[in-house]
Amino acid sequence: MIKEIKIQLRDDKREIPQDISKVKFGKTFSDHMFLMDYNSKDGWHDARIVPHGPIPIDPGAMVFHYAQEIFEGMKAYRRPDGGVQFFRPYENIKRMARSGERVSMPAMDEDMFMEALRKLVEVDKDWVPSAAGSSLYIRPFMFATDVGLGVHASDSYLFCILTCPVASYYPEGINPIKIMIEDEDVRAVRGGTGFAKCGGNYAASIRASKRASEKGFSQVLWLDGVERKYIEEVGAMNIMFKIDGKIITPALNGSVLPGITRMSSMELLRSWGYEVEERLISVDELMEAAKNGKLEEAWGTGTAAVVSPVGRLTYKGEDFTVQDGGIGPVTQKLYDGLTGIQSGKVEDTFHWMEKL
Ligand code: PLP
Ligand code: COI
Repeated sequence: MIKEIKIQLRDDKREIPQDISKVKFGKTFSDHMFLMDYNSKDGWHDARIVPHGPIPIDPGAMVFHYAQEIFEGMKAYRRPDGGVQFFRPYENIKRMARSGERVSMPAMDEDMFMEALRKLVEVDKDWVPSAAGSSLYIRPFMFATDVGLGVHASDSYLFCILTCPVASYYPEGINPIKIMIEDEDVRAVRGGTGFAKCGGNYAASIRASKRASEKGFSQVLWLDGVERKYIEEVGAMNIMFKIDGKIITPALNGSVLPGITRMSSMELLRSWGYEVEERLISVDELMEAAKNGKLEEAWGTGTAAVVSPVGRLTYKGEDFTVQDGGIGPVTQKLYDGLTGIQSGKVEDTFHWMEKL
């Protein structure tokens, strides 16, 4: 339990967007944010909810120099009865602790984390949108605040939670996206930080994403960092293929982010009787399947991306259209099944949802 959360409400309440489809992902923040400090002497302390706004930080703070920073991405949804619910929040809380362990940052008691989430979303409850496909995106993050240029673990940290009303992550919405298989840069290597959600992983990915975007692709599909042979994941989502009737997704090997949407999608698909394989899948196997017409569907899974169909794949100049560039039946069923549970329109037989 958090001893006390001080609440300072803003007095210049801003306008809540009425048409969520016009809001760019992650550009509009709700009225308040949660902050809490840590140091080894006092532990977690000074929990507060304050108006969203700038935070004064010394430019010598270690986060700016050595990137000791981790984050999470999760969502809360408006149910048809007007209530609000979180999707598998304890999975995000656990993953943040694993990310923190990798980069030597302190964990937080799970119930304390949940209490912070509940309190903040309660305060900004009116910001949870209700349109189909919309949600409140929640971004908890933590960074090193010790001032100094020596390379070691910081003693002090700031934990923050921001929230944003969002609709789809890609401008394409639920329409298929184009993906370029990256054969130059790598995102992560085994033994590195690929499985952790730390900002540095994303910094390393931006050059390839930029190149792909200049060529008209939405994201890159990463190959493994050693042989550049096996498929890993997409920039902001995990990847799944339907090849010759079977659903295949790359196994978690330490360099892939263990997606909560990935895990939930596999549970849903298996509950519907689909065979789902988690294994190594080489880019050659994928290209072969695409050439032989056996690549039936491809989609990405992620909190922001939800379930995003892939309509086109390109690798070293070879180009393939998947599912005639449209949405495949399994992709659509998965999207409907998952978002149905999340939005409270379909019974939550998995007990994934946590009411506010
Ligand atoms: N892979 C990467 C690199 C991501 O940034 C994300 C997004 O969180 C995912 C996969 C999907 O993970 P999740 O389903 O937990 O959001
Ligand atoms: C998420 O899906 O929550 C993510 O963190 C992806 C992000 C890079 C937008």
